[in-house]
Parts: sequence; C-alpha cells; structure tokens
Amino acid sequence: ENIVSFSEIDSTNVYAKNNLDKLPSGTVVWALSQTSGYGRHNSFWYSNKGGLWFSIVFKPSLIREPNEYTKVVSVAVAETMIKMGINSVGIKWPNDVLIGKRKVAGILTEAIFSGISVNAIVVGVGINVNNELPEEIRQIAISLGMVINKHISLEMLLDKVLKRVEFLRKNYLIRGKNRYLTRRWKKYLAFAEKDEITVSLPNGEKITGIINSITPSSLCLEREDGVILEINSGEILL
Ligand code: BTN
Repeated sequence: ENIVSFSEIDSTNVYAKNNLDKLPSGTVVWALSQTSGYGRHNSFWYSNKGGLWFSIVFKPSLIREPNEYTKVVSVAVAETMIKMGINSVGIKWPNDVLIGKRKVAGILTEAIFSGISVNAIVVGVGINVNNELPEEIRQIAISLGMVINKHISLEMLLDKVLKRVEFLRKNYLIRGKNRYLTRRWKKYLAFAEKDEITVSLPNGEKITGIINSITPSSLCLEREDGVILEINSGEILL
C-alpha cells in the first residue's frame, strides 16, 4: 500500500488535493492530527490525536461518479465496524456512520475536475477512535473506544478499512455492478423508505416527511400535504 503519513497536518483532503500530480491512484494520506480538518458544508471537524483521519486518492479510469466512491467507503467503514463486533452500526444519509444515534465517522468526498471531466476523487474519512470528544459534540458523537472500552490500534483499523475498500471497489465499481453496491449501502441505512424524518436544509429550513426514495445523491421526502420534494443536500435530524 501507498501511504503518506504525517504526525500533524492542516487537512489530509487539502494535502491530497494540492499534491494530486505526485500521488498515484490509491494513495492514502494519513495524519495523526489535523489543525484544520473540515467536513461537509465546510464545518469544522475535530481531529485531535487518537482518531483516524485519512484521505484516499482515486484516479478513476472507468467509473467517474464521485458518489460511487463515497458509497464504497461508507459501506467499508460500516462493515469494518460490524466485523469488529459492534452492534447498531448504521449509515445516515448521505454518508455519516452512526453507532446507535451518535455519529462515529464522517466521509467527505471531493471531485477534482480538469475541464468538465472528473480527474480525481479524494475521499476523506474521519473516525472517532481513541480521541477525546470535545464537550460540544459529546451528545451527538461517539468513539469506537467508548464502545469497545479499550485502546484500538489505528494502524490495524486503517488496514481493515482499506482492505474492505479495495474489496468493494474491485467487485462493485465495475460496469453493471452498481446496483449491488447500492443494495449493500441500503441495508445499513439508519433511515430507509417509509421512515418519517426531519431534514434541515443548508438554508436552515426544516422539512418533515416520509422517505419515498433514497439514493446516495438524493432523498425524496413526501410531506404531509402529499408533495414530494427531492433533497440533494441536507442533514437528517436525529
Ligand atoms: C462530515 O461528516 O461532514 C465529513 C467529515 C470528514 C472528516 C475527514 S478527517 C480526514 C479528512 N480531512 C479532512 O479535513 N476532512 C476529512
């Protein structure tokens, strides 16, 4: 495996994006801590020592749809945890990993274009492992260490996740296999078709409705008045 590691960095996603030319497809950028880790909607991502913070660079030849890589990685993270014996692991649309109702991992995919075609895809993964969770997220976040009650080796965990990613990528990121990957992703969804949820949109608006259909890129919600809304970006409220 091709792993570039740092004891501290601003953000592994930023490093990957800034050094794309030097990094072959499959390269993993790993840091023990990040000073400016970020998540979706540019939120701050706490990345102190003890957590697993890394990014994978993909330079796709065939499948260039960024969502497919997010799906592979979120399923890989969920399946790794399930294999470790952890119960109630779920994927929260679009790509957070939960244990019970608390977030244990987040995934941030960024596509880098050259002209109008996707040149590279950087998938950043943050997993709370042995790191101390800051006060402001203690109610909504959880770490693997809190669940397993012992110190977890980051090397071992990274290795397991990467092996799983490779397995899923080889088997499903090939033409015609996509629906099998989606089926797997759906199996882990914390909220699925027919569930009633409330979603907060980037503009602050909140919508409550029943999930009519769900894919990694869109969530269709049926409101009480029967109107079906397609949501492409938002947060499911727990
Ligand atoms: C989210 O839940 O919004 C996604 C969080 C992604 C965090 C990871 S940590 C490694 C990589 N580097 C970053 O700056 N962000 C991602």
